[in-house]
Amino acid sequence: MKTPEFLQIHHDDHAAIRDELIQGLSAPKAHTSPKFLYDALGSRLFEAITELPEYYPTRTEAAIFKTHGAAMAACVPPHATLIDLGAGNCNKAAALFDRFAPKRYVAVDISVDFLRGALECLQRQYPELDMMGIGLDFSSSLRLPAQAGSPQDPRILFYPGSSIGNFTPEQALSFLQDAHQACGSASHSGLLIGVDLVKDHAELQAAYDDALGVTAAFNRNLLPHINRVVGSDLRLADWRHLALFNPKDSRIEMHLLANRDLTVTWPGGSRDFAKDERIHTENSYKWTVASFSELLQQAGFAKPQVWTDAHDPAHGRFAVMWASAR
Ligand code: AVJ
Repeated sequence: MKTPEFLQIHHDDHAAIRDELIQGLSAPKAHTSPKFLYDALGSRLFEAITELPEYYPTRTEAAIFKTHGAAMAACVPPHATLIDLGAGNCNKAAALFDRFAPKRYVAVDISVDFLRGALECLQRQYPELDMMGIGLDFSSSLRLPAQAGSPQDPRILFYPGSSIGNFTPEQALSFLQDAHQACGSASHSGLLIGVDLVKDHAELQAAYDDALGVTAAFNRNLLPHINRVVGSDLRLADWRHLALFNPKDSRIEMHLLANRDLTVTWPGGSRDFAKDERIHTENSYKWTVASFSELLQQAGFAKPQVWTDAHDPAHGRFAVMWASAR
């Protein structure tokens, strides 16, 4: 039996994270990066979101993989290095091992510690598969280390879950250009990506403002997380959840709204908020099949193969796309 290799590249810099949060809180339109939603409790709340009846993306994507897995396997290169971006518990990629028959599995996440348990468990099920865990913040740079494997071997970059939705269109293009580069030099390498699609506004809205209030808890959980990092005195009772669809930018926005006039203080500074003033905490962009295909091609990929949950891809709620690097 082989054993997984591990490599930690990213090290978070506490002073920089604190400064980033304070800068966002102090801006005329206060904002924070969605990455701060995922502390230990936030990650568990997100997992709970994926089981809510209103939150269609996770189960819709899973159904697309189930229905069209064989067609996908016919597109992707065999014996490839499967590079899983934001692997977490590695379940989504592992579900493809039998069909895709990769030679090597490279799980990438911000902290290699998230990957250890999952990879050690997977290695027992796939004793002959080369496995590697890499701790890397690929949202700032997708330069893969040499240990990820030879760039001459065919690669499948795997980016499911519509995580791409957190990027602005400009950031998404730049990320896809990096992904194109990271495909290496082998012919048939490419990107397998999950993308959430524009749809009925009420359905979108409900997915981000569920009746049980789990998404509200996920959003408000940011407050104690910020307090721990910057030493501020944000109070849960002072803030409520708001999710809205912004059709001009084709994105769901999450905000925290102040329930009253208040002042937030932290060591070395403070910020006044008027009643109903907001902290913008997340964007989740929704694409059309046509607009995302165009973006992939702008980034250097071939016109993608597209699978959705509808007969007519233009009516799908979610899309999985295979874009060959050349
Ligand atoms: C993990 C970014 C895909 O945008 O749907 C879920 C995060 N935010 N509910 C999404 C999220 C609120 C999710 N992504």
